[in-house]
Amino acid sequence: MTDRIPRYDLVARPRRLRTTPAVRRLAAQTRVHPSDLILPVFVREGLTEPAPLGSMPGVVQHSTDSLRRAAAEAAAKGLGGIMLFGVPTERDACGSAGTDPDGILNRALREVRAEVGDDVVVMADLCLDEFTDHGHCGVLAADGSVDNDATLEIYARMAVAQAEAGAHVLGPSGMMDGQVGVIREALDGAGRTDVAVLAYSVKYASAFYGPFREAVDSQLQGDRRTYQMDAANRREAMHELQLDLDEGADMVMVKPAMSYLDVLRDVAEASPVPVAAYQISGEYAMIEAAAANGWIDRRAAVQESVLSIRRAGADSVLTYFAVELADWFREENGLS
Ligand code: PBG
Repeated sequence: MTDRIPRYDLVARPRRLRTTPAVRRLAAQTRVHPSDLILPVFVREGLTEPAPLGSMPGVVQHSTDSLRRAAAEAAAKGLGGIMLFGVPTERDACGSAGTDPDGILNRALREVRAEVGDDVVVMADLCLDEFTDHGHCGVLAADGSVDNDATLEIYARMAVAQAEAGAHVLGPSGMMDGQVGVIREALDGAGRTDVAVLAYSVKYASAFYGPFREAVDSQLQGDRRTYQMDAANRREAMHELQLDLDEGADMVMVKPAMSYLDVLRDVAEASPVPVAAYQISGEYAMIEAAAANGWIDRRAAVQESVLSIRRAGADSVLTYFAVELADWFREENGLS
């Protein structure tokens, strides 16, 4: 049989470009550069030492001091950005610690800017769930539902507080309708036309947020399905994208990443502004758990997972692996 295969069938040999690490590097279409990466970090009020997170091995809740060191490291490694989440000691029904200039997140933003200046982009999660005693991303109406428009008023104040505290970029993640427009208007009204909005435009209600809830000591009972998107929906992502663009989003995000790569592709093709994707806590935890059991090669799995997110179309990736990925990039490209 074999001698009857015509020779021209073998003229194209894609394996030629897979022969050595150097030729594979030359042929690689997608790369994960340190500046493509954004490191999410947690800072918890009242800590003097960083506190490890059980469900996210290798990730901590920072004290103010350790956060400053982490921010300095992110800048030194050439990361694109750092995204701050605050964990307060006191919570109430309307998340007052989020709008308070002395609330943990706003204090942390000041500390981080004092440490890194403009050397790395400093971003703030703009949402109420860390600050409310019921754990929802907005305030509740009398019937217990999340009140969209009452929440917007608080987001507007939070935005100004975060901008004044020094955030370069705000990341509204609460999935309230109209949030980007209200935040943009509040920033502009306060003279902060320079502060950008990275909108969590396409954010799905996901089981993979589980470990994050430990990371921010979330008080949530129930779920967020009345405001976050339904995993069944793809077309709706285009609607959310369009609305946020109309409202003035400077960058948009798809979240989670790995279970939504098709949606990420759609958004990347349609978006005129940069697209980020968030490799969330549960995605991190799955890789760590499998690696800890010796079931997968950790480094290869981490790199493949983030490469897939870039290949699907993300310009930047929020990932808890950001610092390690930056180290590996340098090592593999002769830059260390
Ligand atoms: C909401 C918010 C969440 C995450 C980022 N911002 C949690 C949620 O929507 O339940 C999740 C991040 C992660 O899981 O890594 N402020």
